[in-house]
Amino acid sequence: MNGLQAAGSQVAFDEASLLAPDYSYVSREVFNSEALYRLEQQRIFERNWLYVAHESQLGKPGDFVASYMGEVPVIVAKGSDGKVAVSVNSCPHRGLRVCRVDQGNAARFICPYHTWAFKPTGELVGIPQAQKLGESVDRERLSLKRVPRVASVFGLIFASLDPDIEPLDTYLGDQKFYMEAFFDRFPGGLEVVGPPHKWQIKCNWKLPVENMLGDIGHAAFLHGSLVPPDSPSNVEIEQHGITVVPSPGHAAAIRYLPSDSSPAERGAHNPSAPPELIEYMVEVERTVAERLSPEQARIKGMALGIYPNLSLLWGQFTLRVSHPRAPGLIEYWSWWLTPVEAPDHIRQMLRTGYTVGFGPAGIIEQEDSYAWSQQFLGSDIRYLNDRPYYYGLGMGEESPHPELPGVSGRCYNEHYARSFYQRWRADMFNGAQS
Ligand code: FES
Ligand SMILES: [Fe+2]
Repeated sequence: MNGLQAAGSQVAFDEASLLAPDYSYVSREVFNSEALYRLEQQRIFERNWLYVAHESQLGKPGDFVASYMGEVPVIVAKGSDGKVAVSVNSCPHRGLRVCRVDQGNAARFICPYHTWAFKPTGELVGIPQAQKLGESVDRERLSLKRVPRVASVFGLIFASLDPDIEPLDTYLGDQKFYMEAFFDRFPGGLEVVGPPHKWQIKCNWKLPVENMLGDIGHAAFLHGSLVPPDSPSNVEIEQHGITVVPSPGHAAAIRYLPSDSSPAERGAHNPSAPPELIEYMVEVERTVAERLSPEQARIKGMALGIYPNLSLLWGQFTLRVSHPRAPGLIEYWSWWLTPVEAPDHIRQMLRTGYTVGFGPAGIIEQEDSYAWSQQFLGSDIRYLNDRPYYYGLGMGEESPHPELPGVSGRCYNEHYARSFYQRWRADMFNGAQS
């Protein structure tokens, strides 16, 4: 059996029974198994680059945000040297969280139990019982544990618990082409406004992720009351919608408009948007050639995903992370981005557009959350373990794109999800047995 033994568990998994060789079937256990979930914490969340914060949240020394890497709580902070450090938010004395708020500016974190004090970047700076410390104590070990790797791209701060991971640039590879098409589209760049929305959804962490890698097909149905199948945006998706996979696990869902498409066609993201907002978007498109390649300029994006758990909804200016909490529970964090140079009234219109559709009370978000939680409940029916989920739509029709980096498929092709599970399998089954 080509399987693996989950650490600390008697459960052995048969790799072949979890995933079909071509990934057209994915076992329901991939979503509901407690043992697989525990192993994902080690083999996925301890070994990949994870998004932890946006640079615009850390303007000055002492600014910090509390975040997570999988289930590991971390503090992301700007030090007095201006550098960003990430440390595990657990007191070296007895494990309490030393930072107990979501974000702010601090000179020190004071652990509540015995009041040891730490800089926001993790260094131990005070122990009331200092004179009682043994001579032989290595004080270095009494600081917060540093996360070994931190790197930024397009204002996004990533960290990795794996000291030997490849550089972030290499990890993202050609996915940077699609990220650039969004993040460099707006003159002056983008910034995060306010703290993220955070809420819980009863689903497996991979379900929102795979949705935003490329499930373009559901929009006309699940969201049909807002965007019916014959709406202009769905007609445009049907004509020009593709998903592109630059490397397994990363993907982008885009409309790739013809080379002679006009700024008005590219800028009209939402026909029901206020005229001033549409005019602003069209104006951005008129000057986009100054900032992007001709191919990037033709991209009218919908969503993209960075392995393992970061997603971006392009038209709604929202970044989201699916934080795992249990096989059937996530904490979903959703940041709202806005163009730095957009006038206030445009920012307000974009914000309204985001909150009506997305965030914990957004209409579209409610519909998606319903689908993901039902999908998890379906995965939890043991009697159906012989009926894995089907991921074979469009199988074999995907091919390298002639103009864009990566393999592309039509809007209904589920190759984006098949390649995600290919990456998941490589992480879970080929990893060292630790
Ligand atoms: S547990 Fe933090 S100071 Fe004792
Ligand atoms: Fe959706």
